[in-house]
Amino acid sequence: MLSIGVDVGTSAVKLLVLQSKGGKVTVVDAKSVSLPMGAVRGGRIIDVQGVSSALQECIPLFRKYRRAKIVAAISVSQVIVRTMTVPLASEKEIKDFLALETERLLPGEGELVFDFSILGRNTEGTDVFVVATYRSAVDPILNILETIGITPSILDVDVIALLNLYEKQCKGMSLLLDIGAGGSNLVVFGDKEVPLVRHTTIGGNMFTGVFQRVLNLDFEAAEEVKKSGNIDGIVKERLEEVFSDLYREIERAFDYLIGIYREIPVKCVLLSGGGSLTKGLLDWLRDRLNVPIDWTINCREVEGLNGDFNKRVIMDVPLGLALRGIEK
Ligand SMILES: Nc1ncnc2c1ncn2[C@@H]1O[C@H](COP(=O)(O)OP(=O)(O)OP(=O)(O)O)[C@@H](O)[C@H]1O
Ligand SMILES: [Mg+2]
Repeated sequence: MLSIGVDVGTSAVKLLVLQSKGGKVTVVDAKSVSLPMGAVRGGRIIDVQGVSSALQECIPLFRKYRRAKIVAAISVSQVIVRTMTVPLASEKEIKDFLALETERLLPGEGELVFDFSILGRNTEGTDVFVVATYRSAVDPILNILETIGITPSILDVDVIALLNLYEKQCKGMSLLLDIGAGGSNLVVFGDKEVPLVRHTTIGGNMFTGVFQRVLNLDFEAAEEVKKSGNIDGIVKERLEEVFSDLYREIERAFDYLIGIYREIPVKCVLLSGGGSLTKGLLDWLRDRLNVPIDWTINCREVEGLNGDFNKRVIMDVPLGLALRGIEK
C-alpha cells in the first residue's frame, strides 16, 4: 500500500511517499519545493499562484505513485480542536450534537465543517476528539490540488498527523513542540486525551530575523548563516531572547495544565519541525525543563529517512500524514 503526505508549510510544500509492505513501513520518495516568502501566512494560503506552481512541480511525483492514497493537511492555526465528553452514545446523536456545539464554538458567518473521533466511553457519556473549522479554511488547499487533478482521500490537521509518529509514550503525557518557519505548535497529549493545542508565531522566521537585524543581512543570507550553526556573540544573546519567548509559551501551557490536573502531567517533550534544528536551542531548553526533551523519544520505526536526520525532522508532518494514509 502506498500513501503520499502533502504538507503546505510556510517555507515549503513538502511531500513524502510511504510504502507499507508486510508490516514494514518505508519512505520511498520525498520532495520539497520552497515557497515564496509570504505565500502562506499563519497557516493560510495567501498567494494561490505561488502555492499552485510549487504543487505543479510535484506532478511527476504524484504521477509516479498514481495509486497512492493522498493525505493533505490543514494548519492547526486554522481550526479549533477540542476533547469533550458528550452525554450521548450513538454516532448519529453525537454528530447532531456536535453540529450545534461547533456553531457555538465558531459563532462567525460561514459554513462550518467538523470531524470527530471517539476516544472512549464512560459512565458520563462518550469522550470525543473534535476538529472544526470554516469551509473557507479548507477550500483553498482542496481547490489548488483539484487544479492539478489531485483529490485527497483524507484531510488531516498538521500537528494531529504528527502524533502518528510516536509509539506508546513515556509514562504520563507528552508535549509535542513543532517549531516550523511561521510559528510553533504546542500539543499536549496522552493515551486518550489532547488537553492542549496551541499555536504561537515564534518560529524559524523569527530566529532568522535576529540574524537579519544583527548582521544586517537579507533573508536568504540570514537563513544560510543560521543553518550553518555559526552563532555567537550578540547574535547568540538576541537569539536566546527569542528562545525565552518560546519558553514562556511552554510555561504558560504548563500553568494551564496545572489548573486542570493540579500538577504538570507532561513527562517528556518531543521536538519536530525545521526550527527545532536551530543551533543551541535544544541545550538551552534542556537546561530549563525538568523533563527529558529530544527529537526521537519513542519514535515509530520507519525505514528510509534515518540516514538524513535534518530531513527527517523537516519531513515530520508529511511523514505523519502519510502514516495516517496507511493506517488500516
Ligand atoms: N539546520 C537548520 N538550522 C536551523 N534552522 C533550520 C535548519 N534547517 C531548516 N531550518 C529552519 O526550519 C524552518 C522550516 O521548517 P519547517 O519545514 O518545519 O517549517 P514549515 O512547515 O514550512 O513552517 P510552518 O510549520 O510554520 O508552516 C525554516 O525557518 C528554516 O530556516
Ligand atoms: Mg510545518
